[in-house]
Amino acid sequence: TALTLFMIILAYLGGSVSSAVLISRLYRLPDPRTHGSGNPGATNVLRTGNRSAAVWVLLLDILKGTLPVYLGWFLDISPLYLAFIAMAACLGHMFPLFFHFRGGKGVATALGALLPLGMDMAGLLLLTWLVSLGLFGYSSLASLITALFAPLFVYFIKPEYTLAVALLSCLIIIRHHRNISRLYHNEETPILNRLKRNR
Ligand code: G3P
Repeated sequence: TALTLFMIILAYLGGSVSSAVLISRLYRLPDPRTHGSGNPGATNVLRTGNRSAAVWVLLLDILKGTLPVYLGWFLDISPLYLAFIAMAACLGHMFPLFFHFRGGKGVATALGALLPLGMDMAGLLLLTWLVSLGLFGYSSLASLITALFAPLFVYFIKPEYTLAVALLSCLIIIRHHRNISRLYHNEETPILNRLKRNR
C-alpha cells in the first residue's frame, strides 16, 4: 500500500542522516569521513577521544533503525514489509542520499532495527558483541562475529525473519571489507587501547 511505501522511503531518508557527521560538527571534532578509519560511525568518532559524542552517534544511529520499524509495527504493517523498512533504514545509513551515498557500515542501525524483535534477540546480539570485543578488542571484529551469529539467533527466536537478517548480515560484512583486510594483516586499531589511553 501507499503507507507501506511511504514508510520504506521514510526509513531510507532517516537512515541517510549521518549522525556521525552531524554530531562531529556539533562537537567541533574532525570529520569522521576524513579521520581515523574514514567511517562515519560511533567507533570512529570514539577515535577522536570524545566519548560522549560517540555515545550520541551510537544512540542516534540505533534510533534510525528502531523508530521506522516500530512505527511500521504500530501502523500494522505486515512482517514482510517491516523487514523492508529495516533494510531501507540500514541502506540509508550505508548509502546516504544526503552524503553522496558514502555512509557507514550499518551495525548500530541494524541493531536498532532488530530491537523491536524483542529483548531476547537484542540481548543475544549485545552479549555477542561485548564478549567478542572483550576477547579480541576490535570493534570491527566484534561486529563481524555478531553479524555471523545474528541469522542463527533469529532462526531460533523469530524464524520468519531469518532471510531478512541474513541479508542484513551479508551487507554489514561486505561493508567491512577494508576492516577484514586490516584484521588479516594485523593493522586494525584495537578499541580497548583507545579507551584506556583516554582515562
Ligand atoms: O561497527 C563499526 C565498526 O565495526 C568498524 O568501524 O571505524 O573501525 O571501521 P571502523
